[in-house]
Amino acid sequence: MRKKIVAGNWKMNLSFEEGKQLTEEVVSRISNVSQEIEIILFPSFIHLAAIHRLTDGYRIKIGSQNNHHQNEGAYTGEISSSMLKSVGVKYGLVGHSERRIYFKESDDDLLAKSKALIQSGIHVIFCCGESLESRKKEDHFNHVKRQLAPLWTLNEREFAQISIAYEPVWAIGTGETASADQAQEMHAFIRQQVKVAFSETVSEETSIIYGGSVNPSNASSLFAMDDVDGGLIGGASLKVDSFLEIAKNLN
Ligand code: PGA
Repeated sequence: MRKKIVAGNWKMNLSFEEGKQLTEEVVSRISNVSQEIEIILFPSFIHLAAIHRLTDGYRIKIGSQNNHHQNEGAYTGEISSSMLKSVGVKYGLVGHSERRIYFKESDDDLLAKSKALIQSGIHVIFCCGESLESRKKEDHFNHVKRQLAPLWTLNEREFAQISIAYEPVWAIGTGETASADQAQEMHAFIRQQVKVAFSETVSEETSIIYGGSVNPSNASSLFAMDDVDGGLIGGASLKVDSFLEIAKNLN
């Protein structure tokens, strides 16, 4: 059975003290969330090791927001997947629209970063999602299809280390979320793409989560959809109440 996931993408937010406090609160209240749900926190690089120590032994995993595709070497300022592994990172975000747009990350970059994480035994959450322009032109299915294409070059063993996050760019941080039907329609499309590339079994085992202005009021309708296996939460993950309220909606 595929994993259900609620992940908090903190982006470039929270001081060390704030992140520590939020983590301690999540740890102390996690028993209210179903055991079947994988809870992941994505703090900034510099807080990963400390947040890992706070969550170690609890059912909360930590993840990285980015990584370099090389394992080591003269790449000043960069962080490799093996370094991430060494501080307890279990998940890595790849292809978030903010990295695609602001840092011009290409399909080749994203595939190389994904492979590096997989080689380090870190599970990848690969993000995709169309712009407003693309949706208005009704090109959204093709847009997502193109973004996912690099993944079909992985073999089945590698792809077992991939989950997909559908995050329409127009819904990220805007307060405007995709409707449950829009999310379901795209998630079913993505699952179909996985089936074509690999097999029905693989597609049924792949977690596909939704991101983009998820909050405690819209989470239950999104999570009720057959092909929505959880959420990648930005703004609402920065407060313990809203983050855990969202997680409680996933059952
Ligand atoms: P948001 O961000 O929940 O603030 O819209 C989601 C994301 O970017 O992962």
